[in-house]
Amino acid sequence: SEYDLVVRGGTVVNASDIVKADVGVKDGRIVALGEKLGAGAKEVDASGRLVMPGGVDSHCHIDQPSSTGGRNAETFETATRSAACGGTTSVICFAPQQKGVGLADGVAAYHERAKSACIDYSFHIVINDPNDAVVGEDLPKLIGEGHRSIKLFMTYASNRVDDGQILRILEVARRNQALVCVHAENHDAIMFMTEKLLAAGLNGTKYHSWCKPALVEREATYRMIALAELMDQPIQIFHVTCGEAAEEIRRAQQRGLKIYAETCPQYFVLTEKDLDRDAREGAKFLCSPAPRTEAEQEALWNYVKSGTLGNVTSDHAPYNIGDPDGKFWAGDNAPFSSIANGVPGLETRMPIVFHEGVVKGRLSLQEFVAVTSTNAAKLFGLHPQKGAIAVGADADIVVWDAEKKTVISQDILHHATDYTPYEGMEVTGWPAATIARGAVLWQDGEDMCEPGYGRFLAREPYDYIKPRGAFPTPFDPVAGTVAE
Ligand code: URP
Ligand code: ZN
Ligand code: ZN
Ligand code: ZN
Repeated sequence: SEYDLVVRGGTVVNASDIVKADVGVKDGRIVALGEKLGAGAKEVDASGRLVMPGGVDSHCHIDQPSSTGGRNAETFETATRSAACGGTTSVICFAPQQKGVGLADGVAAYHERAKSACIDYSFHIVINDPNDAVVGEDLPKLIGEGHRSIKLFMTYASNRVDDGQILRILEVARRNQALVCVHAENHDAIMFMTEKLLAAGLNGTKYHSWCKPALVEREATYRMIALAELMDQPIQIFHVTCGEAAEEIRRAQQRGLKIYAETCPQYFVLTEKDLDRDAREGAKFLCSPAPRTEAEQEALWNYVKSGTLGNVTSDHAPYNIGDPDGKFWAGDNAPFSSIANGVPGLETRMPIVFHEGVVKGRLSLQEFVAVTSTNAAKLFGLHPQKGAIAVGADADIVVWDAEKKTVISQDILHHATDYTPYEGMEVTGWPAATIARGAVLWQDGEDMCEPGYGRFLAREPYDYIKPRGAFPTPFDPVAGTVAE
């Protein structure tokens, strides 16, 4: 037959347009788009369905120890299987710098673990100690090998970097061409408030959101933007939860700075009320930054719609409720400050964004594709190989059943985590088939994922990470020179 695979009769949705077309695949790539294509050795019937680029989830924690204690509940195999069953075909997760292990060796260990991945993957390098060896040797070398993004944390005792260290990291990124991603919250303010809350006997999960109100996010977001402007370095602000922080980002973007940002499904559907339960239940919704209010959910949608928040990621951070080394690693009666932070969400990301976005009339189909796939592929240097249904692109495709009603529950998910924060939530729209580099990984309820199928995606320098070439003063602090 003419093609290895033909996805036939569907409506192809890209971030730019919608067209009725068959998709012809050969050797893992899309080689033809058009009506009435010839036969494929394999055929996927997409009539009445949407054919969209497979999801690109550019923020997920896989097989990584928590910054706040607790063992990650998933391996690369289980996490990427659940991603694929939810329509996602590429993930960018983390290779963290670890105490007592050289950075290069630490990252190499993550490449080993990732060999069980079912879908393609790339890494953000987490830097928590920008010492001379890291800044001078390891990091430039790793960036050169295709790890074109760095993650830094402004909070978490074990991971946070101070402003001076942030500037060092921004400098290495600018010199070597990498994007800097940031968890932006004011650490000292959180620590101070946590001590005060605990001293007042307020230990419950409800107080997680009291120790870190929106202003700690707004302040750190603004501070990070200012430091990035000082170094003329593009950055991505992770998991924006509120209008206050998004407003700072929009202001920076309107001034022409290369400041990008994401939000996550949990901030569309969870609120601080979910934390106001007994610890066993409340812990299921405990993540950072904290879920806010319904008013903030609506504010976020407006910033997504206007493009200030360019993509929606899962921030998948799975810790089991029932494991002694999971959410409650510090004991069953641990205060909110010693419960592992994070919620699982690789598999539910696209269905929740489709339901809350498209079904509820907040997003067009093209916008859905943009925020779940194309924008992340562009921002992280994977486009047009990923994030597009186009001739020459990898055949990473989700065939979407826009009518299918599903009640999200632990029973139907493929992750290894022992709960979902979305238990009982009904959504319309679910992947009917997920195809990665031409292989069908998920179809009509059957999981055909194979551990080891995923490949590392090395990333070359690209436009989004190029600096503007404009510093606040005539002095270039990276080159050490003064402009004429
Ligand atoms: O609550 C969140 N976002 N957790 C992920 C970060 C971590 O590893 O604690
Ligand atoms: Zn590598
Ligand atoms: Zn974070
Ligand atoms: Zn995260």
